[in-house]
Amino acid sequence: MSDRLIIFDTTLRDGEQSPGASMTRDEKLRIARQLERLKVDVMEAGFAASSPGDFDAIQAIAHAVRDVTVCSLARAMERDITLAADALQYAKNSRIHVFISTSPLHMAKKLCMTPDQVLEQAVQSVRLAKNRVSDVEFSAEDAYRSEEDFLCRVIEAVIHEGATTVNMPDTVGYAIPALYGNFIQRLRERVPNSDKAIWSVHCHNDLGMAVANSLAGVKIGGARQVECTINGLGERAGNCSLEEVVMAVRTRRDYFGLDVGVETTQILAASRLVSQTTGFVVQPNKAVVGANAFAHASGIHQDGIMKARDTYEIMRAEDVGWSANKIVLGKLSGRNAFKQRLLELGIQMDSEADTNAAFAKFKELADRKSEIFDEDILALVSEDNVAHRHDQYALVSLSQHSETGETPQATVIMTMAGKEVTGSANGNGPVDASLKAIEIHAKSGAEMVLYSVNAISGSTESQAEVTVRLQKSGRVVNGVGDDPDIVVASAKAYLSALNKLQNQASRVAAQG
Ligand code: KIV
Ligand code: ZN
Repeated sequence: MSDRLIIFDTTLRDGEQSPGASMTRDEKLRIARQLERLKVDVMEAGFAASSPGDFDAIQAIAHAVRDVTVCSLARAMERDITLAADALQYAKNSRIHVFISTSPLHMAKKLCMTPDQVLEQAVQSVRLAKNRVSDVEFSAEDAYRSEEDFLCRVIEAVIHEGATTVNMPDTVGYAIPALYGNFIQRLRERVPNSDKAIWSVHCHNDLGMAVANSLAGVKIGGARQVECTINGLGERAGNCSLEEVVMAVRTRRDYFGLDVGVETTQILAASRLVSQTTGFVVQPNKAVVGANAFAHASGIHQDGIMKARDTYEIMRAEDVGWSANKIVLGKLSGRNAFKQRLLELGIQMDSEADTNAAFAKFKELADRKSEIFDEDILALVSEDNVAHRHDQYALVSLSQHSETGETPQATVIMTMAGKEVTGSANGNGPVDASLKAIEIHAKSGAEMVLYSVNAISGSTESQAEVTVRLQKSGRVVNGVGDDPDIVVASAKAYLSALNKLQNQASRVAAQG
């Protein structure tokens, strides 16, 4: 058995399925480039048949990424497989990931198919995919709740048909580590041709055990691929977190005895990029990438760390990219230094005009804030903070007044379809008043389901990063806004979310 663990990142597919985490093509491309720097083995770039937008994003990623295998998900049906193969046509290394449910519940209630029909369709779909690419993964959706005899028949048949990886998802996050590990081990023992494919684990986090279950699948079960996402992003409670699995295997090499190819110093940059792009804030006590992950508050711990680091530290902060969190630029930094830092952060601007616009914003920020961190630069160029020609709304200016004992009041000047409009409103606080002033003209009718504020670099001088999640007619979008002024950041985030709702509405209409 190999002693290399394959890291399959599905941030751009399973992660993106999380309500509000949907990303534009350019956002996906930027994350894909970071995943390449992170040196994951495989990236699932999307689900080509799910929308023309996803197809385009996969195609763009397949063009841009050279050092990582690019994968598209496909249901076990001809149209999906054809679209996945077409989207991946220009990839240097491509994989089609075919799936069908195998649990009695899913087969009867979701697919309305008999087990024999499912078996037949699984085999047919792997055959079709194999006609287009050599690297084919088969997933038995809801594998963990499937009948083992049937599951073994399916796996044996798809491996016989040429599947090179077989994945056993705990789709609903129901597994317990030892039980899941034993499950994978039993399957590997019972399937006669099990040694002809790589076994993969894919665990959801509904009971908070996705990472533990995945590691048990590796250690007890002998799986050699883990499917995971940056920050554990994903539907409901999320997926197995990439940074936790990678650092567990690396830190406890004595126990796992496995190598991972991931460039761990890129972990923090990946975490920040995904968080800033989706608006899903990382909790401070999150392992590896949380703001407190390497902070030692108690005097006893601090004293110990100063005497010998390993008294309280099992990993080095710089090994996961924390040392990169340095003051990089300031008021006196010139255009070349700014451009250089963009390059180091892996940000490619589309044109010289975009670079100039970003530099102007940087100068504006440097006038208000003496230390500019990497996170500030990422925020400056994040999609949510860049005005697009097709945006319905843009902030022009905002003024607000609040005083103890007085009702807060705000006036917002914004453009709406290119026309300048002004709205004034009162509210419970200055943020509330500003968003109400925007709504006077926007009249979105959307419900706000989340509002959160995060200090980008940890002090009162830092920029506020506000996330606003809006819901309307079953659609959920996140808007992110950054500014040293919390009220302005809130207005930017709100307008960004409104633009996304608007863009999604026109996209659906355009597809008919
Ligand atoms: O959770 C799951 O079962 C999946 C499959 C499509 C692989 O995401
Ligand atoms: Zn999943």
